[in-house]
Amino acid sequence: MPDTLKTSHDYDVYITATFAPEDEALKTTRAEMESGKLPKINVSASEGKLLHMIALMHGAKRILEIGTLGGYSGTWLARALPEGGKLVSLELDPHHAEVAQANLDRAGLTDKVEIRVGPASETLSKMIADGEPLFDLVFIDADKDGYVDYLGKAFGLTREGGLILGDNTLPDSIFSETETSGTKRYNEAVATHPHLISTLIPVLRSQGIDGLTISIKRGR
Ligand SMILES: C[S@@+](CC[C@H](N)C(=O)[O-])C[C@H]1O[C@@H](n2cnc3c(N)ncnc32)[C@H](O)[C@@H]1O
Repeated sequence: MPDTLKTSHDYDVYITATFAPEDEALKTTRAEMESGKLPKINVSASEGKLLHMIALMHGAKRILEIGTLGGYSGTWLARALPEGGKLVSLELDPHHAEVAQANLDRAGLTDKVEIRVGPASETLSKMIADGEPLFDLVFIDADKDGYVDYLGKAFGLTREGGLILGDNTLPDSIFSETETSGTKRYNEAVATHPHLISTLIPVLRSQGIDGLTISIKRGR
């Protein structure tokens, strides 16, 4: 195939086949999401593997996910947890949470994952008020307009040296001087935050590229 015809999808097919082939549990999770009529807005297998490796490299024992959907990214993340580790995943839609719980149970992750249903902003406030133990890693992947609010709350729930990841952070608005968007504001917030060191990793999608913004929490 001439170079000019290669697309980001072609590259992602190679990366996925080589480094992130799905096992039966992940394939079934996607199939159950489809039959449950959940939107196809989960991370790709290659990004799931990236999340899995970041959690492993960081030695994460407690992970917070904001935006469960059908438990696809949750499966990649929870599989990186050691014995006794915990993924707390926040989801607004009870149907999504139900599909996710069944998928995570089928994947043998019942003991490692807890889904909390409700608006993430309220759940996060309650977690702070209740003195929730701190997390090693936070993955933000819910409604984009909520990202800056979730960042503010997640920051207080993240341990010193912990990671905060934001998904879908290369929106078209980055090319505009006048337009903004939730994830553009999120990038600006983490890039200028005095106690976060951040960068953005481009992520291949079937159509074009997207971004995963990575931040590490440094001393107050
Ligand atoms: C992009 S999907 C998450 C995909 C998932 N992380 C994955 O890759 O498998 C976003 C999810 O966030 C949920 N969501 C939207 N608004 C929310 C809110 N205010 N609080 C909590 N969850 C919300 C949606 O219902 C949806 O399931």
